[in-house]
Amino acid sequence: MLKTLRPVSGLRGTLNVPGDKSISHRAVMFGSIAEGTTTVNGFLPGDDCLSTIECFRKMGVSIEQKDDTVKIEGKGLDGLNEPTDILDVGNSGTTIRLMLGILANTPFHSCLTGDSSIAKRPMKRVTGPLRETGAAIDGRDDGNFVPLSIRGGKTKGFHYTSPVASAQVKSAMLLSGLKTEGTTSVTEPHTSRDHTERMLKAFGCEVEVSGKTASLKGGQTLKGTHIEVPGDISSAAFFLVAGAIIPNSEITLKKVGMNPTRTGIIDVLKQMGADLTISGLSGEESEPYADITVRTSKLNGIEIGGEIIPRLIDEIPIIALAATQASGTTVIMDAAELKVKESNRIDTVVNELKKFGADITATADGMIIKKTELLQGAETDSHGDHRIGMMLAIAACLSAGETTLLNSQAVTVSYPNFFEQLEQLQKENIEV
Ligand code: S3P
Repeated sequence: MLKTLRPVSGLRGTLNVPGDKSISHRAVMFGSIAEGTTTVNGFLPGDDCLSTIECFRKMGVSIEQKDDTVKIEGKGLDGLNEPTDILDVGNSGTTIRLMLGILANTPFHSCLTGDSSIAKRPMKRVTGPLRETGAAIDGRDDGNFVPLSIRGGKTKGFHYTSPVASAQVKSAMLLSGLKTEGTTSVTEPHTSRDHTERMLKAFGCEVEVSGKTASLKGGQTLKGTHIEVPGDISSAAFFLVAGAIIPNSEITLKKVGMNPTRTGIIDVLKQMGADLTISGLSGEESEPYADITVRTSKLNGIEIGGEIIPRLIDEIPIIALAATQASGTTVIMDAAELKVKESNRIDTVVNELKKFGADITATADGMIIKKTELLQGAETDSHGDHRIGMMLAIAACLSAGETTLLNSQAVTVSYPNFFEQLEQLQKENIEV
């Protein structure tokens, strides 16, 4: 779908951003392998999380979903059925990688595939270590790419030192350890998002975290529970940056997830000089959340790298746009993982922002961005990547003239009502 976007005179108002994608996936998966009923409020009804629901339905789990409410009749760790059809994860890396962990010790055969983006994303980071535990996995290029087949076995607990800071890898390993003898543990170079560790505890499991290592003992049972999903900080990020860089803006985002393993965007925006107010922090016992207000700000360029990268990896496209409006130079480094996201996000960010006239250069593990006084509307393409699509839409709001966005429908992966909410903020500005 081609969308035409025009500059805006300000964005004003209050939004409830949709539910957190990472937490929504896990609620469905863990509810499916738990004993008893799990209910979920605030679920993200985006394409990715709907793919997770479809996959677990194909394994015999009864799941009712209406908008942001979900009810799952858990089948226990031994209760999933051998699927009669291919498990299609669509665009969702989280679905395929975490599901592989669950299937690694499920004694049946299944085939997994996804869309053209998933077909390019490396799976060896998960299939490699899972094979070591005893699961039989095959696939294109020796199990690195879909289509994959897996026959779970009696896996054994093990320690894995991951070369990448990846919650998908960490979660797959921990999930593979739920039924095994002994302890399964994962050490990562930097701490990645810890939703799996937190939610397994909510389902009654014991998980130990010590520094950069997470571990659990096999033979545990998950008990159905109730999960409240906060707003997705990765979705809020588009409006946090929009509010900061678009003149005459003030936006309040309600009940945004504030898990410290995800709040790198807040740290970076504050360091760049953004005018942010955080209020009403609660939910610290499970997944913390708060309201955030952002106002038009004067930003300065900074260096972003090291341990903060996993805490803002999905926000780098919109941070790059913020950097085009920041004085001086912004350097983003240690972010080679961007190359294996829904698109190669170093290439897509740099090439698409250059179309607006931005001064941005790709590096081997990130990008260098200098301030551009006025971006010019352009003919752009999301390349089927939801976060690139939303970043380009915010760039269009700021640019002189008209912008076209090809493949704008990609936003439904994580933010089905993104364009409606963007319009709402323009109307509320005009009405002020
Ligand atoms: C996710 C983890 C991250 C993130 C992705 C969601 C998750 O990927 O980029 O959007 O839900 O575990 P990696 O774990 O591969 O870094």
